Amino acid sequence: GALGAGTGPLAGRRALVTSGPTHEPIDPVRFIANRSSGKQGHAIASALAALGAEVTLVSGPVTLPDPPGVTTVHVESAEAMLAACRAALPVDVAVCAAAVADWRVADAADQKRKKQPGQDTMALTLTQNPDILATLSRPGEGRPMLVVGFAAETERVIEQAREKRDRKGCDWILANDVSATSGTFGGDANTVHLITADGEDAWPVLSKAEVGQRLAARIAETLGGEA
Ligand code: CTP
Ligand code: CA
Repeated sequence: GALGAGTGPLAGRRALVTSGPTHEPIDPVRFIANRSSGKQGHAIASALAALGAEVTLVSGPVTLPDPPGVTTVHVESAEAMLAACRAALPVDVAVCAAAVADWRVADAADQKRKKQPGQDTMALTLTQNPDILATLSRPGEGRPMLVVGFAAETERVIEQAREKRDRKGCDWILANDVSATSGTFGGDANTVHLITADGEDAWPVLSKAEVGQRLAARIAETLGGEA
């Protein structure tokens, strides 16, 4: 693995993490993007590697350095992110922390789109992107033992995250309260609840690094080392 002979509670385990935004091309010089720094996903990848897992990080465009001890695959679009995730399988655990664009431009142009004289408006037709988390969660041969997603919500946080967990078919959801009242919006700290089949766990306000460490520890408890 990337760390050589991994030691720690996740030694021998393989992990996949998605991180960052995706960029969906409009033409060769323009794109639609999501706001995401990639900090949380990268922190999770680092924390899993620190516990001995062999980690593949599939990252959209970010300004962060590649985390040491992790195999980082760089992609731009949601479709490329899904392809890179499939290529990283099989894994024991997958964590989808990327802010994937829900839509891509249906007919991305090969050449730069030029304004026409007198043109005041321009319409783009968008097509829904593949849902990477739902795809990885689909039951069947090769499904990771544990699939974890995120849900950033501003209201009815737990309830909506639980619905999202059911809809996507993942095992755990980290519900991120991004409402103004949580006091952490836009900051480096995260207010999260871990939603599982059994219930939910309210975590204290933590840094993104601490969220990564706590999640990795919980994953280690659940999976243990290679059987
Ligand atoms: N996700 C994904 N692929 C997509 C969209 C979302 O893997 N095309 C993952 C995200 O990485 C996250 C989870 O799904 O782990 C929830 O993303 P979110 O945008 O909150 O959910 P959506 O199903 O897209 O619902 P919404 O309409 O609220 O955006
Ligand atoms: Ca979305």
